Order: sequence, then C-alpha cells, then structure tokens
Amino acid sequence: MKRKGHVIGVVSGKGGVGKTTSVANIGASLAKYHGKRVLIIDGNITTPSLGIHMDTELDGLTVQDILKKRKPKRDIKEHESGVHIIPSEFTTKKKFSKKRLKKALSRLAKEYDLILIDGAGGVVEEVIATIGSSDEVVVVTNPELTAAVAALKVIEQADKMKKPVRAIILNKVKNESYEITARELSDNSGVETVLEIPHDRRVEESIAKRVPVAIHRPHSRGGRHFRAAAASLVGEKHKKSNLIQKLMDKFF
Ligand SMILES: Nc1ncnc2c1ncn2[C@@H]1O[C@H](COP(=O)(O)OP(=O)(O)OP(=O)(O)O)[C@@H](O)[C@H]1O
Ligand SMILES: [Mg+2]
Repeated sequence: MKRKGHVIGVVSGKGGVGKTTSVANIGASLAKYHGKRVLIIDGNITTPSLGIHMDTELDGLTVQDILKKRKPKRDIKEHESGVHIIPSEFTTKKKFSKKRLKKALSRLAKEYDLILIDGAGGVVEEVIATIGSSDEVVVVTNPELTAAVAALKVIEQADKMKKPVRAIILNKVKNESYEITARELSDNSGVETVLEIPHDRRVEESIAKRVPVAIHRPHSRGGRHFRAAAASLVGEKHKKSNLIQKLMDKFF
C-alpha cells in the first residue's frame, strides 16, 4: 500500500532536553498502541543515541546507508514495539546533506504513516538538515530559562524556513514554582500546543534498560504522558490507565 508519510523533525535549542527519549517513546507508542506504520531515524550523526535507547544494533540499515547514492543492501530493523528504526553510526564527518536526507525521506515516506527524525540540539548544520527535510517540527525543551530561550531560537529558525511548529514538548517538569510554565512558553512562542511530560525516574530507569518507558512502564507517570503526547500528535484518543495499572508501574 502506498502511503504519504508525514515527516516530523524533533529538535531543540539546548542539548540533553529529551529529544531522543521523546522520539523513542512517541514512535514506539504510535506503532504499538495505535497500529501506525512509523519510522524513527537518527538525525544526530555526531552524537547518535537513538539506537542505544531502542537497544538496536547497527547491523540493519543506517543513516549513513541512506545518505549514500547507491541503493542500500541492508533492511530496516523493526523494534519489538513494531516501530521501524534507522540508527546512525558514530561519525566525525561533519557533512550532513539536507538535499540527500530529503531525497531519501521522500522515498521512504511512501512506506509509512509517519517518520520522526531525532534531531540534534542548537542551530547547527544537522538541525538545519532535519528542519529542512521535515514537513513539520516539534521542539523539545525543559522548564528552565536556558532551555526555553534556546527553544525560542529554534522556533525562530523554523519560522525562517517556513516550517510549521506542530508542538512544543515541555519535558522533565517537576512543577516547582520557579519553572517556566507551558502557558509562558506558548504565549512567548505563538505555538498553541505544549505537551507536558513530568520528570520521572521511571524514564531514566527505562533508558538504562534500553526500552522506551511507554513500552516498559506504560502506566507510570512518564509512560502515560508520552503515550498521551503520541496520541495527541496524530489526533487520536489515549487509553487511560486504571488505578491498579498505575500502582503496579509505580511500585514494581
Ligand atoms: N521525562 C524524563 N524524566 C526523567 N529523566 C529524563 C526524562 N527525559 C529525559 N530524561 C533524562 O535526560 C537524559 C537526556 O535525554 P535525551 O538523550 O533524550 O536528550 P536529547 O535531547 O536527545 O540529548 P542530545 O541533545 O544529547 O541528543 C536521558 O538520558 C534521561 O536520563
Ligand atoms: Mg538525542
């Protein structure tokens, strides 16, 4: 079946805010709980980590393969959640051609409902390539001033490139009084949808186990919020957890 995969680039102004965690969880949730055909791809070729989050070896198709001109011989790997993944090899090569990535993605888009690119942080070449190859952008940030200011810079860059910002993911929220709020981010950026994800040690634990929290601990606070964020991005309803499920993921 021919599909018209929508490409969403997930980027940030500051590093370490939770882009890879978001891509891994949203991609896996949409495949597992919504039956979508989703591809997640590492667009962070200088410090790749999507393969690590998803426990994926580099023996399948890699980003480096799809950027080459000749037809790749290896197949795309499928994660246990059903999401397809193209990880990146570690490389010191700086060139990350927007043109090539865009071309490869337009070919791949025919096979998927959605493609998520796990971008880099900042307004560097990799980020420009990710934004330029996407139909829409999702900006990830944390509720602290430095991350928020940097996020506004990336939103400005997306505006310059005429790419709509679909949503901001406000990750690692602790609900402290000094934190930047979703309302403040929305008012200052003009982006209506701000999806909040709490700071949750279950997220860190799941990364250590190399399984996205939405799969490993779907009823934990982090798991529930990532599943809800995924549902909201495709305009579908998210199935709520009951009290017993929540307790099981909280204590066991
Ligand atoms: N909701 C959360 N709760 C608790 N810890 C989190 C959460 N999200 C992410 N983290 C922590 O933050 C770390 C960085 O997350 P992640 O690797 O997804 O960020 P990134 O934006 O992709 O970083 P980089 O810019 O290096 O690519 C994770 O290893 C994890 O420890
Ligand atoms: Mg990352």
